[in-house]
Amino acid sequence: MSRPQKLYVKSYGCQMNVYDSRRMADTLAPLGFVETATADDADLVILNTCNIREKAADKVYSELGRIRALKENAASDGRCVVVAVAGCVAQAEGKEILRRAPAVDIVVGPQSYHRLPDLLARAARGRVVDTEFPIEDKFDHLAAPTRAATRARGLSTFVTVQEGCDKFCAFCVVPYTRGAEGSRPAAKIVAEIERLTDAGVREITLVGQNVNAYHGDGPDGLPWTLGRLLYRVAQVPGIARLRYTTSHPCDMDDSLIAAHRDLPSLMPHLHLPVQSGSDRILAAMNRRHTRADYLHVIDTLRAIRPDIAFSSDFIVGFPGESEDDFLASFNLIDEIGYASAYSFKYSPRPGTPAAELPQLPDEVTSERLSRLLYAIDRQQAVYNARCRGLALDVLFEKQGKLPGQLVGRSPYLQPVQVMAPPELIGEIHKVTITDLGTYSLFGTLARAAIRTPELAATGV
Ligand code: SAH
Ligand code: SF4
Ligand code: F3S
Repeated sequence: MSRPQKLYVKSYGCQMNVYDSRRMADTLAPLGFVETATADDADLVILNTCNIREKAADKVYSELGRIRALKENAASDGRCVVVAVAGCVAQAEGKEILRRAPAVDIVVGPQSYHRLPDLLARAARGRVVDTEFPIEDKFDHLAAPTRAATRARGLSTFVTVQEGCDKFCAFCVVPYTRGAEGSRPAAKIVAEIERLTDAGVREITLVGQNVNAYHGDGPDGLPWTLGRLLYRVAQVPGIARLRYTTSHPCDMDDSLIAAHRDLPSLMPHLHLPVQSGSDRILAAMNRRHTRADYLHVIDTLRAIRPDIAFSSDFIVGFPGESEDDFLASFNLIDEIGYASAYSFKYSPRPGTPAAELPQLPDEVTSERLSRLLYAIDRQQAVYNARCRGLALDVLFEKQGKLPGQLVGRSPYLQPVQVMAPPELIGEIHKVTITDLGTYSLFGTLARAAIRTPELAATGV
């Protein structure tokens, strides 16, 4: 290749897309592609899309409109820009994207990324679509990052261990866009993590659409649970912190709960989406658990790890949700005392069972969403306020916005900003929390712990 080609990858949606975007960049690097921060000077633009809600999917088409203008400008300068749509919109809409977006050259589904070099060659002869679920495992064919690329991506990174979902919640497109649940073999995950820590990564988040349904082959020939995998990964030299996301309440098995008791590197923070606090709605959503089941998981984890912090996702305005159902979600928040939570307006997704049901008026859903958001914000503020005066372990990740400032995260995933020397990047130090921002904490380097963190949620 005469000159390096520039690659711009934009990731939407979940952490799995972030991980995939990196692996696509790694796979294209041997072809001479170097990543660039904007689409303006790129020779290849990849939009790694999300289809979870209508708004997420719409964003792709508005971005493609902008990219079309950019591509036309480049063409008038004699420069050719190739545009690829990857991810869950690519999987769900396939050829339809070519019809709606004339700028697109390649449509590639999440299971076919390893074929990108071939798709690029084919795109030189005409537009291509690959949304198959191939037999071969893409992870065996995607290139590993170089040490330099790993270091440039920071101290904390995601590793996909499981993909797809067999749960079929009535609102969700993921089982259709990512396909059936599949787990990577434990040995391959461990080898990948060893490479990452060897290049300086200190924190690993194991990711999967349904990560605690992990059941990959272990080196002993038996299927391993996520708990078993965490015990093994915790032994990798250089690992300071471990996390995993996103979990389903039904798959919190004993080995995973025990890992929270036994592994000091497993951080006391868990994103455990519940979606609704109403048993009637949970059943209609096909969540396969009740409110009491969910509370039982939370209680069990708190019993063995009293400072564990929880976050969750809530959907408001699911078809048939009454005011009482909504209030059940509202008061579940109070009952649990989350460190943070996300809430979404229900969005009917084509092909999912709930999209066929009579929908609630938008005014009702919007009004409920604003009440829930208010409750969540208030609870997050209370949670953060309880951290004032505590000495928390902070893993310093990078320089902050102000000169002399570093940014890191607490065990509970809160961003913490501290005046500290840059040589502390990559290290964990106690920080005394002195002030609270809207979403982050401010602190000073502590010489010694002032008091032990005891953030056992007591409700608000
Ligand atoms: N696998 C995870 C989450 C997947 S999607 C789990 O089981 O919880 C991330 C979040 O998007 C979900 O937790 C849900 O709150 C939200 N979501 C999914 N489909 C949605 C839809 N159709 N409308 C609104 N929110 C949705
Ligand atoms: Fe979607 Fe439910 Fe699967 Fe989560 S568990 S990915 S919400 S179908
Ligand atoms: Fe979105 Fe697909 Fe992830 S729909 S949330 S990018 S699995």
